This record gives sequence, C-alpha cells and structure tokens, in this order.
Amino acid sequence: MKAIIFDLDGVICFTDKYHYQAWKQLSDREGIYFDETINNRLRGVSRMDSLEIILERADKEYTQEEKEAMAAEKNDTYVELLKGMSPSDLSDEVRSTLEMLRDRGYKLAIGSSSKNTRTILGRIGLGDFFDAISDGTNITKSKPDPEVFLKAAEFVGEKPADCLVVEDAHAGIDAAVAGGFESAGIGEAADHPQVTYRMSKFADLLDICK
Ligand code: BG6
Ligand code: MG
Repeated sequence: MKAIIFDLDGVICFTDKYHYQAWKQLSDREGIYFDETINNRLRGVSRMDSLEIILERADKEYTQEEKEAMAAEKNDTYVELLKGMSPSDLSDEVRSTLEMLRDRGYKLAIGSSSKNTRTILGRIGLGDFFDAISDGTNITKSKPDPEVFLKAAEFVGEKPADCLVVEDAHAGIDAAVAGGFESAGIGEAADHPQVTYRMSKFADLLDICK
C-alpha cells in the first residue's frame, strides 16, 4: 500500500447534520416528508442524486430547471451552515493518525463526492494537508461509480491496487470494489460484505497501514 484515499464527510469530519438541516429547510417549504433515516441514504451520494432521493416522497413532478434551483438553494443554506465549522471540528484522533500515516511514508489523498470539499478542508484546518484532492468538481459520475477514487489514484500517481480507500458509506465501498481498491470501512461501511478491513475507530488505520 502506497497511498490512502479518504472520503471526507463521515470519515475526516462530520457534516451530516448540516446536510440534514439544509435539506430539511427546503423539503419543509415544499411540503415533502424528510427525516434522518432518509438523510442517511444521502451519504456519499451527489447533490443532484440526493435531491432525487428526497423527491421520491414528493406528490408532484418537478422540471429539471426547478430541480437545479432547489439544489442551488439547498447548497446556499449548507454553505452558510458550514461557516459554523472550525479547526475544533477536526478530532485529535484524526489529526494525529493522519500525521503518523504521513510519517510512515504514505501519500494521502481525498476522494469525496462533495463540491464543497476544499471549503470544508479549509474550515477544519486541513486546506494544505493532502497530497491530492479528487472531489465533486472533477467527476462526472458519483459513487458508487469509482471515478472519484480512480482520479485520486491518478493524481497521486499510484495504481488502484496500491491504494487503500477509507469510507463510511456503502456507496463508497461499492465504488472502491468497482475500481479495484482495497477498502477500510468505518460506521455503516464496516458492515459492507465486500469491505477489506473493518474499523471501529479512525486510529485503527495505524494497525492496517503499518
Ligand atoms: C458527500 C456527502 O460527501 O457529498 C453527501 O456524503 C453529499 O451527503 C455529497 O450529498 C455532495 O455534497 P455537496 O457538498 O457537493 O452538495
Ligand atoms: Mg462519507
């Protein structure tokens, strides 16, 4: 293993509650039922695909133009909420584990579906930390398609077989498998039947990547 590709939301930091609040504000106004269980299905899924999941509960059809306006409105709310994030949202465990992995010689990259990746990394004090960032701004297909991880591997100059993907979402493990990567799953991703390593905490990476 030469490089480690980290998902962002749910692995490095936690933005679920902000996504939830932003989607909830929109769905309440539109009169569409939305709850935390539906929010859990949005993990790792792109903004437009997330909206499609939310609209499963809508009782009317929306045009493409209306959908784009809704996604933009949700993002405006979300970006405003992200202003509440600071370096204190990066845990000591994650920070010190990342530093130790770097000291062990691994290349460290991000592979996230989010178009707000660089904003979030900046907010938590990791704006300049990673060797490469592959995110929602450089892909055409979102997880479970492997594109975001294949691009991350390309950006660090390594083959998928030499990279480990760290994920919290089932869609992310599906993407890792499809791309020919080994994977380490945390949270619900630890239960994925095809995950390579099951983690109960972030620092478990220090046992996986010696
Ligand atoms: C992923 C989140 O990281 O990014 C998803 O897990 C989210 O819930 C996706 O929908 C897209 O995020 P953004 O910031 O581009 O709207
Ligand atoms: Mg995630």
